[in-house]
This record gives sequence, structure tokens and C-alpha cells, in this order.
Amino acid sequence: MTYGDAPMTTLDETTLALNTGARIPTVGLGVWQAPQGEVTRAAVTTALKLGYRHVDTARIYRNEADVGAAVRESGVPREDVFVTTKLWNDDQGYDKALRAFDQSLGRLGLDYVDLYLLHWPVAGRRLESWRALEKLYAEGRARAVGVSNFLAPHLRELLDHAKVTPAVDQIEVTPFLQHRYTRAFCAERGIVVEAYSPLTRGRKLDHPAVAGVAARVGRTPAQVLLRWGVQRGMVVLPKSTHEARIAENAALFDFSLDDAAMARLDALEEGLATGWDPRDQA
Ligand SMILES: NC(=O)c1ccc[n+]([C@@H]2O[C@H](COP(=O)([O-])OP(=O)(O)OC[C@H]3O[C@@H](n4cnc5c(N)ncnc54)[C@H](OP(=O)(O)O)[C@@H]3O)[C@@H](O)[C@H]2O)c1
Repeated sequence: MTYGDAPMTTLDETTLALNTGARIPTVGLGVWQAPQGEVTRAAVTTALKLGYRHVDTARIYRNEADVGAAVRESGVPREDVFVTTKLWNDDQGYDKALRAFDQSLGRLGLDYVDLYLLHWPVAGRRLESWRALEKLYAEGRARAVGVSNFLAPHLRELLDHAKVTPAVDQIEVTPFLQHRYTRAFCAERGIVVEAYSPLTRGRKLDHPAVAGVAARVGRTPAQVLLRWGVQRGMVVLPKSTHEARIAENAALFDFSLDDAAMARLDALEEGLATGWDPRDQA
């Protein structure tokens, strides 16, 4: 399998093992703010043609139907594509979560999802929502379940009550917001970290350190940020609806960053959250 022109290297780099025994492709196409309809369909179709095998949507993105249609019509066997969707906040609670999952699956037009995430650690409801996800996992309609925007304290509380350890925690991670403590916590418990907004939503692509590393390795700033995430052991979820960028964002496996480049990027921590910040969530 290739991502665009980039030869795929090792299985361990292009996929990561989940605690379920399944593997998750390291690069997933994000579709937040990809508009409903043809734009999202075309982006997913293009990504699948270029070799992506992982798409990250959510009920709140309002494009599950387009993602599902593109996956179903792609000609790629269903079992070869990793599809994630997420439970939105106003659907949290045990019964509501089960209903919301059925509706998401209906919009996707799929029999199962590869990963179902609690989108946000909603206070007072996240534990009963998790029980619903455990049921969906037991039924096999969600092949893996996980959380998003959970920091170490949220995870610690969840693990005190959970029967199933989340397979994944999807949080915002870039060199500018590294969440080292939460990532270490996840590593100890076998939870894969997925880095969302891995391109800083475009804000830091011209940062001199990122641009400097990019010039040295002959790659783009976007590729440098994504490669940093891959080398730090994460799944990365870049979003683009443009073919050239979709290809660029997956061409990560025919180069690497040396220790000096990684150290330079590691030094950029500044607590930059480009979206909602779960550090404020009790
Ligand atoms: N769980 C959560 O709470 C949560 C929150 C945020 C995001 N996410 C997930 O993570 C995904 C990615 O995060 P994100 O969408 O916030 O931001 P992102 O991937 O960091 O950045 C996306 C932005 O960068 C642009 N871009 C993409 N590739 C580029 C390239 N190679 N060069 C220059 N610009 C480029 C995109 O524009 P074009 O599309 O115009 O190319 C878009 O404006 C989301 O789509 C979603 O799946 C999850």
C-alpha cells in the first residue's frame, strides 16, 4: 500500500496496535469543518484513492452521511477502512448514547464503526455514557471504544469505574501543546493517543523553528508537524479538503526527523490550544 508517492515502510510505523488487538492506521483524514455534501465526499474519496485507510468524523461535524457514502462507494473493502465517529455532548447519558450511536451508524450506512469516542468529558454524564460505549463494544457494533479531550484526571476517574479501558484518547497535540503528562499516563495504560488539530489549524506553519526544520529535511512545515507526531508514537488526524494537501499530509513515511530536529520541536511547548481546552473541564 502507498500513501501518494511515498512508499509505506514498516507496519509498526504506518499502523499502531490498539488494546483490542486491532491495528489503527497512523494517518487519518479529519473532516471537521469539511462541508456537508460533495466537498466531504470528494475529500474522503480522494484520500481513499491516495491510500488513506482511516477517516475521523463525528455526529457534530454533520457529515457522517457523506463519509459513509464515500467509504461504501470507494471499492475499498470495508474491513480495510478504519472509520471513527463520536458521541456529541447533548447525547450523553446511557440511553441517549445508545440511541445516538444507532443514528450515527444509520447516517454512515455501515454495520459497525471501528472506533466510537466520547467526544468530550461532560461532567456528571461521562461515566454513564461510557457504560453505553462498553455495551456497544461488547456487541461488536463498535469494534473499539475510546474517549476524546480526556486529560489524565478524567482518565483516572474513568478507569476507576470502567470495565473496558479506552483504546484511544483523542486530544489536541502539537509541538506547541504536548500534553506530556496525559500522554505518559496513556502510554502506561496502553491507550493510543490520537493527535487532533495536528497542523495547529494552520496557525504555526510559518513558525521559524518548524519552517527551519522543514527546509533542512526538504519537506513542508505540515509534514514536519505530522512527522513529529508519528515519531512521538501518535496517530495524526490532519484535515484537508484539497487533493494536493491530502496527499502531502500522508507522505510521511519516506523521511524521518533526527534527534536534533525532534529536540527543536519538543522545545516549542507553549500551551497553545486552538480549540476548546479540556484543561478547564472539571
Ligand atoms: N475530538 C475533538 O474534539 C476534535 C477537535 C478538533 C479536531 N478534531 C479532529 O482532528 C482533525 C484535524 O483537526 P483540525 O481540522 O482542527 O485542524 P488541522 O488538521 O490542524 O488543520 C486544518 C487546517 O489546515 C489546512 N491544511 C491542511 N493541510 C495543509 C497543508 N498541508 N498545508 C497548509 N495548510 C493545510 C486546512 O485547510 P484545507 O482544508 O483548506 O486544506 C485547514 O484549514 C479534525 O478534522 C477532526 O477530525 C477533533
